[in-house]
Amino acid sequence: MVGHDGHRGWVYYLAVAKAHQRSGVGSELMGAAEDWLRRMGAVKLQLMVRSENESVLDFYERIGYETSDVRVVSRWL
Ligand SMILES: CC(C)(COP(=O)(O)OP(=O)(O)OC[C@H]1O[C@@H](n2cnc3c(N)ncnc32)[C@H](O)[C@@H]1OP(=O)(O)O)[C@@H](O)C(=O)NCCC(=O)NCCS
Repeated sequence: MVGHDGHRGWVYYLAVAKAHQRSGVGSELMGAAEDWLRRMGAVKLQLMVRSENESVLDFYERIGYETSDVRVVSRWL
């Protein structure tokens, strides 16, 4: 699930069925998200990864993403 807020692009959900992981589907989906965002005029793509989902950070690093030093602030409405 990818979106554009008029300024930046965000990936909200990314998942590949377990049986199909490690065969290039995840990076292909991210490539398609990046292409769509470029067409929308976005210059940056951001996404949030839960701290306990450490191994996924290796996937993002592998496909060229870096971890930003930011904190997410939120409130239940
Ligand atoms: C994260 C996820 C989408 C990756 O999808 P995938 O189809 O397995 O990824 P790919 O096969 O395209 O992998 C691309 C590269 O990252 C590497 N990689 C993938 N998962 C990795 C992991 N958990 N740890 C280290 N490297 C990983 C692959 O080895 C591959 O490297 P290569 O180019 O050297 O071959 C998939 O593991 C997933 O659905 N996880 C559960 C849901 C989830 O946590 N989503 C992210 C929420 S932010």
